Amino acid sequence: MAPISIKRILISESVDPCCKKILQENGIQVTEKQNMSKDDLIAEIKDYDGLVVRSATKVTADVINAAGNLKIIGRAGTGVDNVDVDAATIKGIIVMNTPSGNTISAAELTCTLLMSLSRHVPQAAMSMKAGNWDRKKFMGAEMYGKILGIVGLGRIGKEVASRMQSFGMKTIGYDPITPPEVTATWGVEQMSLEQLWPKCDYITVHTPLMPSTAGLLNDTSFAKCKKGVKVVNCARGGIIDEDALLRALESRQCGGAGLDVFVEEPPKNRALVNHPNVISCPHLGASTKEAQARCGQDIALQIVDMVMGKSLVGAVSSSLLLQSSKFRFTHEV
Ligand SMILES: NC(=O)c1ccc[n+]([C@@H]2O[C@H](COP(=O)([O-])OP(=O)(O)OC[C@H]3O[C@@H](n4cnc5c(N)ncnc54)[C@H](O)[C@@H]3O)[C@@H](O)[C@H]2O)c1
Repeated sequence: MAPISIKRILISESVDPCCKKILQENGIQVTEKQNMSKDDLIAEIKDYDGLVVRSATKVTADVINAAGNLKIIGRAGTGVDNVDVDAATIKGIIVMNTPSGNTISAAELTCTLLMSLSRHVPQAAMSMKAGNWDRKKFMGAEMYGKILGIVGLGRIGKEVASRMQSFGMKTIGYDPITPPEVTATWGVEQMSLEQLWPKCDYITVHTPLMPSTAGLLNDTSFAKCKKGVKVVNCARGGIIDEDALLRALESRQCGGAGLDVFVEEPPKNRALVNHPNVISCPHLGASTKEAQARCGQDIALQIVDMVMGKSLVGAVSSSLLLQSSKFRFTHEV
């Protein structure tokens, strides 16, 4: 594989310091600038051949078209929703992410929300702070013996399964790609969604957001669920249809929801956030020191490997780039 020359990288967000250190140790000049406006980014991007972002920098087609020298956009994290991958691909710019750096953190937050839903911990804590001692209001339910449906059995889905099994939950799931015989080895019985909905006491979604997963949980699927089912979305806003979720909460068909992600972030419509049976977080799935360090390190090492012509890990690209690439892809494409 031919090396690619990368001399100057712009880090446009607060990425773990190890990223800068690794890049500099490998002879790459690094500039860190945070809170850049779109116009600032458009004005500056031509001076760089690499850009490292987290999720706040919107790398739109305008930015990409202004980037005369850009060869790589590195996303320290999983989702590349903030990068116009098609526009980058057309310009021959490689887009790369670090898909496994925040798996454990996102799985742990999912489990936290599942447990908080079962024992009303956030509501009880708020009540205590308000000076109350209300023991009746917060009667909970054990996780032990309950059925957890996991929709999307990739990296995070798998980690959620093993953690919740330790609480004695039975884990069932659905994934169109991960084979049932594989998930069976980690204790997840697969079935169709039609079979899964009525069985679950809790449902958690761990798919990407795409046309086939948008509104996976909607009015129709909620109607097929057990009354009082509790749901968690720590993946992407919109996999659970927000309007349908609100209707299901109001009718008590849904007994509670744990939401880390929203269609619009931050959500202007606060109806879900303000619902008494909703526990929500401002997209904190990857917000741990460990995940940020892992993602910062991973993206820097992946860029260095690419510069040295070793391998192209974590590239997220369309077939156009793949066909023209001389690289050996060693991770998901
Ligand atoms: N809240 C956060 O901060 C945070 C952090 C990390 C990841 N995420 C999100 O979590 C999600 C899962 O991440 P991951 O690393 O486990 O991804 P992954 O690619 O490892 O797994 C996703 C799984 O979804 C499956 N899938 C695709 N279409 C499906 C469908 N229609 N029905 C059921 N399953 C389907 C895929 O086959 C795959 O196994 C992604 O949306 C990611 O962006 C959120």
